[in-house]
Amino acid sequence: FYGAVINPTSLTSYSSSPYSLIAIDAAGDIDWIVDDVEPHNLQETLAVKGRIDSEVIALKDGEFLIPGFIDTHTHAPQVPNKGTGGQYQLLDWLKYITFPMESRFSDVTFAKKTYELVVRRIIDSGTTTCCYYGTLHLEATKVLADIVHSFGQRAFVGKCNMNRECPSDYIELSSEASMADTHAIISHITSFPPPSIHSRSHELHEPLVQPILTPRFAISCTDDLLSSLGTLAASHPKLRIQTHISENLSEIEFTRKLFPDAPSYAGVYDMFGLLRSNTILAHAVHLGEDEMDLIKTRNAGISHCPTSNFNLHSGVAPIGVYLDKGIKVGLGTDVSGGFHISVLNAIQNASIAAKIRSMQAGNPLTPRPSMSPSFADKPLPIPTLLYLATAGGAEVCGLEKRVGSFAPGKSFDALLVNVRPEAGNIGLWGHTDSPDIHSLEEQKQILDTWLERFLFCGDDRNIQSVYVQGRLVGGRSFHL
Ligand code: GUN
Ligand code: FE
Repeated sequence: FYGAVINPTSLTSYSSSPYSLIAIDAAGDIDWIVDDVEPHNLQETLAVKGRIDSEVIALKDGEFLIPGFIDTHTHAPQVPNKGTGGQYQLLDWLKYITFPMESRFSDVTFAKKTYELVVRRIIDSGTTTCCYYGTLHLEATKVLADIVHSFGQRAFVGKCNMNRECPSDYIELSSEASMADTHAIISHITSFPPPSIHSRSHELHEPLVQPILTPRFAISCTDDLLSSLGTLAASHPKLRIQTHISENLSEIEFTRKLFPDAPSYAGVYDMFGLLRSNTILAHAVHLGEDEMDLIKTRNAGISHCPTSNFNLHSGVAPIGVYLDKGIKVGLGTDVSGGFHISVLNAIQNASIAAKIRSMQAGNPLTPRPSMSPSFADKPLPIPTLLYLATAGGAEVCGLEKRVGSFAPGKSFDALLVNVRPEAGNIGLWGHTDSPDIHSLEEQKQILDTWLERFLFCGDDRNIQSVYVQGRLVGGRSFHL
């Protein structure tokens, strides 16, 4: 690939290079990157690198590459409910909106038809790695995993464990039954053959699609079930775990009642061995100081789901505080608590959420706050928002060595973004078709503007190509 590349480098910085040359190997990993190769040096650079015969995909003016988005928390079976239910808070929303829809996935034909559309839309929206909740159904969740695998997305797919406080027609009847289906989904997903082109990657790295333990939340699991899941987790240290935590005040109160011996909500998961470095905790809106410290000590990650937190009237998570404490944070869409499948929407609402906290704290809005060493109750700078959606998500998923930014040895999971006027929503204003009249420094500034406008005004009209492990799997060009 040759052209403009934006690459997150830390929580407060990214690099923008108008003329990057990125070489991909046969397995879809990044071989090497050279920045600032101006057009008159391209052939010579290719020759020096021994790549004169390589196919070069040259980006046009108004196009740039960024690492693919990582959605650290979403519910595939809730997508048909998207945009409804916002009049409820969490526990009623589960009862009246969510459980009735999820129970329909006992019908495998319905599941297949729905999940094909859902996964296609999520990939085309730029999500290259996705942490999926399925339903409690084994067969439907196998179907979800099969579809994700056949579409070539990188993902963690979990079958929900839920054996209490659920409707009688949507509940697992015992912790034994729940565990048996959990073992079965793990065997199913871990037996997927690697796509032939990815065989080397599959051998050397983790498979693209992996199982993930998914106790829905503490309320919906008996002590016995959580304990069995903890035992299973202990014998599979690499197995990721996803669950919900401290989203809503009534939920927290009910959790305290159900687990009177636990020191806190986070303490419930910790008691059962489910709080560890590859645990993904969705929401974390109302954590106590002791819970933050526990999560930091265990090195678990937080999935910030701001759209859902607004929509279900849950609260505004203090993400800046978590970042200051060095807790890993990624973004989640949490459909259909959140009403949008795109990580772009999560980015936009993460920005708004941080601004609300800043305003409530009475802080001034300082222009370009990216040099600030602290995040608490301050707006999140653009580099931070980009980082959370990519590299931060990778850390939360335990994939920071594979994805989240561009570097030699990492997978090429990327979005080719198009902000040209033809896209119809961004490039109409301020676009230039004559990049050569600008100095390199000016072009970098133009790239900064493109990025900011894409993050705030972009949608799938701008997602030209979606690559996972070097392979084109979605975006507008995929459908041409
Ligand atoms: N807590 C338990 N289940 C759910 C769910 O499906 N969505 C959200 N947002 N919170 C939950
Ligand atoms: Fe959720």
